[in-house]
Order: sequence, then C-alpha cells, then structure tokens
Amino acid sequence: MTLDLDRLRAETPGVANRIHLNNAGAALMPAPVIAAIKDHIDLEAAIGGYEAEAQESARIEGVYDSIARLIGADREEIALVENATLAWDLAFYAFDFAPGDRILTARAEYAANYIAYLQVAQRTGAVIEVVPDDADGVLDPVALEAMIDGRVKLISITWIPTNGGLVNPAAEVGRVARAHGIPYLLDACQAVGQVPVDVAALGCDLLSATGRKFLRGPRATGFLYVRRALLAGLEPPMIDLFGATWTGPESYVLRKDARRFETWENNYATRLGLGVAADYAMAIGLEAIQARAFALADALRAALLEVPGLTLYDLGPRPCAIVSFAIAGLESAAIEARLRDRGVNLSTSSRASTLLDATARSLPPVVRAAPHYYNSEDEIAQAADLVAKIAHE
Ligand SMILES: Cc1ncc(COP(=O)(O)O)c(C=O)c1O
Repeated sequence: MTLDLDRLRAETPGVANRIHLNNAGAALMPAPVIAAIKDHIDLEAAIGGYEAEAQESARIEGVYDSIARLIGADREEIALVENATLAWDLAFYAFDFAPGDRILTARAEYAANYIAYLQVAQRTGAVIEVVPDDADGVLDPVALEAMIDGRVKLISITWIPTNGGLVNPAAEVGRVARAHGIPYLLDACQAVGQVPVDVAALGCDLLSATGRKFLRGPRATGFLYVRRALLAGLEPPMIDLFGATWTGPESYVLRKDARRFETWENNYATRLGLGVAADYAMAIGLEAIQARAFALADALRAALLEVPGLTLYDLGPRPCAIVSFAIAGLESAAIEARLRDRGVNLSTSSRASTLLDATARSLPPVVRAAPHYYNSEDEIAQAADLVAKIAHE
C-alpha cells in the first residue's frame, strides 16, 4: 500500500519547521492528536475538569479499545500510565524474586530495566543472566533455549533497543517462554507505532510501551499490557483506591482487570491524544508504516556510508528505522547540536543507556537518527548532505 505522503505531511504541522528525525525520541504529533488534546483542555477550562471527564467518558473509555486493537489484546488487559518506564516497572516489580531465581535478558537491554534488575538482584539474591547474541548481534533464541531450567523466573528483553536498528526476535523468544511456561516481559517502547504488534503472535505476557515515540502520541503517555491469565496472580507493587477497593478495616480487593496497575488521577487530554494516535496509526496501517520507515532508514544508511570517517553501528540482518552512527574525531553531541542549528532534529544515545552493548562493542556515544513514514526522501537526502558537510568542517 502506498501512503499519501502529501496528506500525511499536511497533517503534521511540525514538518514545516524542521527535518524531524528524532522519532525514536519523540515523534511529531499529527493534527488529530494535537486537536484531541487541545479540545479536551479547552473543555476542562470551560466546564471543569471532572465535568469534562464525565462528558467525554465514552471517548476516554474508548482509548482502552484503541490500544487493545493496536496490539491485538483485550481492553481488560490494558493499563494506561504515564510512560513506558512506569509501565515496565509496575510489571517487573510485581514479581516476587527469591535467592537464585534467574532473570534472563538481552545484551541490548535498556538502562532503566537493567538498573531495576540490579536493584532486585541486590535486594533478593536473584541473578541476572544475559542471553548471548548470534553472529549478527541479534539475541539468539537457540542460546536462550539452552539456558532454560527450573530456576528461570522471568524472561525480560527489549525488542528494539534505544541505541540503534537492531530488532530482536521477540516472537521466537515468546515461543521459548511459552514452551516452558515462563513469564515473558517485553519492552516494546521503540516498536509500537513502528512495526505491527500482536501480543498473541509475540507470545509475551507483559508488554510496555510509550505514546510519544513512533506512535506519535503526546509526551508522558504509555501503557502496559498484562495477559489475562497472569492478572489474577500479579499484585501491583503499589496500589491506590482506583486499583483496589477498601472493603474493611483490614481488607481491600484488587480490580480484576489490568487497571489494578493504574492510579486514580490522570491527564485525560493526553490520554485522549494517545487513543487518537493509535487510531491514526491503524488507519494508515502498521505494515505500510513499517515498510516506509524502514526504507527511509535504508536510504539514510546508504547515504551516510558515503561520508568519510562515519561508522554505522546498526546490528542485524534487517535493521529498523533507528540509524546509529558516529564520526571519527567529532563528539556525537556536537553533531546533534550542529544539525539542530541547521534545522535537523535527531538525538544521541549515551553509552550508559545500553551499557552492556556499548561495552561489548566499544561503542562511542552514538548519533541516533530515526526517520518515520511522514518524512520525505528529500529530507533524508538533505539531512545526509548536512552530516557530510559537518564531517568536513
Ligand atoms: C527501549 C526503550 N525502553 C524504554 C524506554 C523508556 O521510555 P519512557 O521514556 O517512555 O519511559 C525507552 C526510551 O527511550 C527506550 O528506548
């Protein structure tokens, strides 16, 4: 399916001002998302916050349906929270780890997740083990299978890491987890909105994601998926009067659905924006989105390869729409700043954000350029030209 690029760009006000290749940081929101947020704030100002919530309750409830459709889940399996980290933490800290319990993870694991493993390991005596990669630098499901024993308490990996184009075989990991009945937590933060996501095909039990990246939703939105079969046995690490009901001086009862992981107060304007972002992506089609975003990243990589002194760091046979590179003799932060001065948005990924991978591959801080389907071929060429100029300065 070909996308109507003119329409998509007309619906993206930010493209008038910048070449935005920071979609792995925060994408440009499309007009319907912006309108949903602004409209609800206007309504709150006009009639009151609680009253606006009541008036828009059907649409607010509909956000659960939108997110559930986006990932092939049921609405009862979705908790809406403020960001991917909180979603992930709520899931991870719900497990009771004991000394010797094994947590199997990926080399390209995101820092926030790994820091949480370290805290839990130090507190409980659980051990963290990293699944080896194959020759392409992709997590090796055969190696994972060989690591399984009765002490593996959790398989927890990042699907698409923060620092480059690697796509880990999330569904193959899910097959191993399912075959052995081991809970599987998937960090899909950089995947949602970039590639099709289907929790049944992935075989994950828990999935965390953010709104603002490839999904093009507002900042400080995110969600957690919890497979229904796990819900009853998973007590959130912290609860309030929304996730649970106070039933007596000595008792409370948790909600039955995934909203037991939520708390009472929410930003309904941005939540509505998140729902519209999910609907918007589905209306375009995630296959078409992936095909175009990946193709633009391929074009960017091909152009960057021509720049003397530039090294590309993306791993795997089919890298995604996150392009990571560095230029010999230039600080990546300086490249980011110079490009920003010339109207190109991208970001850098520090070594500490994926420390194991950075150490294993001796990575410098890398520049992270992440095109999305609404970027034009011309923008990619212009950005690559500017990188080449900076490399020569
Ligand atoms: C792989 C990955 N996981 C988790 C996160 C955290 O997302 P958030 O900032 O929404 O908490 C990020 C953010 O860059 C990420 O790249």
